[in-house]
Amino acid sequence: MSSQTDHKPMKFAVLGKSGQLAQALRRAGETRGHQLFFLGRDSCDLTASETVISQALARLPQIDAVINAAAYTQVDRAEDAVDEAMQLNRTAPASLARFSKGRDIPLIHISTDYVFDGTANTPYLPTDETSPINAYGRSKLAGEQAVMTYAKATVLRTSWLYDGFGRNFFTTMARKMGEVEALRIVADQYGRPTHTRTLADACFAALQNPNPGLYHVTDSGPITHWADFARAIFERAPKGLPLVPVVTDISSSDYPTPAARPKFSALETQAFEITFGCDLPDWRDMVDVAWAEFVT
Ligand SMILES: NC(=O)c1ccc[n+]([C@@H]2O[C@H](COP(=O)([O-])OP(=O)(O)OC[C@H]3O[C@@H](n4cnc5c(N)ncnc54)[C@H](OP(=O)(O)O)[C@@H]3O)[C@@H](O)[C@H]2O)c1
Repeated sequence: MSSQTDHKPMKFAVLGKSGQLAQALRRAGETRGHQLFFLGRDSCDLTASETVISQALARLPQIDAVINAAAYTQVDRAEDAVDEAMQLNRTAPASLARFSKGRDIPLIHISTDYVFDGTANTPYLPTDETSPINAYGRSKLAGEQAVMTYAKATVLRTSWLYDGFGRNFFTTMARKMGEVEALRIVADQYGRPTHTRTLADACFAALQNPNPGLYHVTDSGPITHWADFARAIFERAPKGLPLVPVVTDISSSDYPTPAARPKFSALETQAFEITFGCDLPDWRDMVDVAWAEFVT
């Protein structure tokens, strides 16, 4: 992601350690010379009380901001784990907001395209009405509402997060090459993929030049669906990889899941790009980045 802002090294607490975004923040933070203190669930269990969470943060050296990269992210399991999802996605972020307010420091919190019901046919604006259709989305919406009560909070909604390292759609498809000849993939859920590097860069851009509020951050480029995303992943694979699976389009009804997914969840990102002077990269270019990560 290209940005007009200079880098000022800072100290950040990051909730989450081994997750996709946490790892991307580690990589992006190191290149900027920031000092990041990662709190995984071993050192700060976000299902614990607010006192325990605050004590874990207070043990860190003086920090300039808090980045919440932790969440309950298992969309289907959340249907049966509503209390745990609410604890991690609403109650804990509310505690982080109160801690940050007590220190008068910025808080960056991440939310999701799944706060929308998917009935739109043009990209959702940050101001558009929310109406989640699954338990995960409801817990994430409750979290962003709790966090936004703090005036120095920035909420970044993103979608279809992946890279070449984590457990995600890209790495699942990359591993299928050489393993299977054919795949049936849902082609009636539309959105835009987002590389974790884009989101990590966006977190630092928002901290470098604080302008609190609710923004959308995804990679740019054409709106796609999962089957075409898979095809793009295969088409852009480095030469010499074995056996490219043939992708057949299916509908969501052919692949029932416990949690319903929005049919359309592309996010309008212009407000973020204008406010922070950033150009969000084309998702197809970021697939190339993910391949470079995957094969090294
Ligand atoms: N993945 C997507 O497609 C997607 C799409 C839209 C929005 N988002 C949002 O993007 C953010 C980052 O997602 P991600 O894909 O990086 O998530 P992820 O890879 O699933 O990682 C989840 C993180 O949450 C932490 N965590 C889970 N339970 C915890 C607990 N009880 N106490 C403390 N920490 C706990 C994990 O800690 P450990 O490090 O200890 O394992 C891990 O670092 C989340 O807010 C998510 O809702 C994701």
